[in-house]
Amino acid sequence: RAGGAGVTAPPRAAVIPVGGLGTRFLPATRAVPKEMLPVADRPLIEYAVEEARAAGAERIVLVTARGKSAVVDHFDRAPELEAALEESGAADRAAAARAAAAPPGEILAVRQQAPLGLGHAVWCARRAVGEEPFAVVLPDDLILGPGPCLARMAEAYRETGGVLLAAMPVARADVGRYGVIDPGARDGRLVEVRGLVEKPSPESAPSDLAVVGRYVLPPRVFAELGRHRRGAGGEIQLTDALAACIGAVPVHAWLFEGERFDCGDRLGFLEANIACALSRPDLAAGARAILARRAPRP
Ligand code: G1P
Repeated sequence: RAGGAGVTAPPRAAVIPVGGLGTRFLPATRAVPKEMLPVADRPLIEYAVEEARAAGAERIVLVTARGKSAVVDHFDRAPELEAALEESGAADRAAAARAAAAPPGEILAVRQQAPLGLGHAVWCARRAVGEEPFAVVLPDDLILGPGPCLARMAEAYRETGGVLLAAMPVARADVGRYGVIDPGARDGRLVEVRGLVEKPSPESAPSDLAVVGRYVLPPRVFAELGRHRRGAGGEIQLTDALAACIGAVPVHAWLFEGERFDCGDRLGFLEANIACALSRPDLAAGARAILARRAPRP
């Protein structure tokens, strides 16, 4: 494998950018961050945080922005709520409320002070991460599947080192919504990355293999992002910084198992809700009954 000799430690820090404006979900997101909208009965951010924990992350860095404090508050203790539940005799609900809080020190929050792009958001986390490999989880990309995607990537990263990013094939017509990979040799779920382009036109795209929002990255990416070069859409793009790593460190794509839902899109979000409910033992039967009632077979 291109990682060469040696074993790279899996990431202990995960960066989760939550600074986006969520304009596609207006008016729902006027006062509530998009990441707080529920998929089944849990806010979207919880899925990303759980996936980071499952991959072994001990520090979770939320890159927030003005108006996004609810995302950080969500992981705090809620003593008034817990006390009220205890008093009303709902001890199990009180325990659930307590369990939803993050362990002290796990969640760190840094502010992205201007909306300059995903690459800039990740760069804002550099001091909280330090000089070690780190993961990035984009909460809009919800992945449901046999096992948590990032944990499998962290495992693969021990051998690959360098840059590892999640990827999946998409329709040619849709490549312009993604970072797109110029693929080299394939070895199981690993594909060598020879080039990366952010949001190419269908005609110029090097393949139909798109980057999905899970990454394991070396700290050198911060130096690259610190150059603040603008890319597609005038934004500082993470994809461009990763493209600049090609040749210097091994860069691989990971063809993940499971299904990815685009929760940055209203219909993608709706489908994520349906799929998530259908995958839950406590909700599946009820959800199936609703679907049968609403969309009877012709
Ligand atoms: C970001 C990345 C892009 C990636 C996508 C996956 O784009 O820049 O490379 O393919 O996430 O969801 P965004 O969705 O922020 O435009």
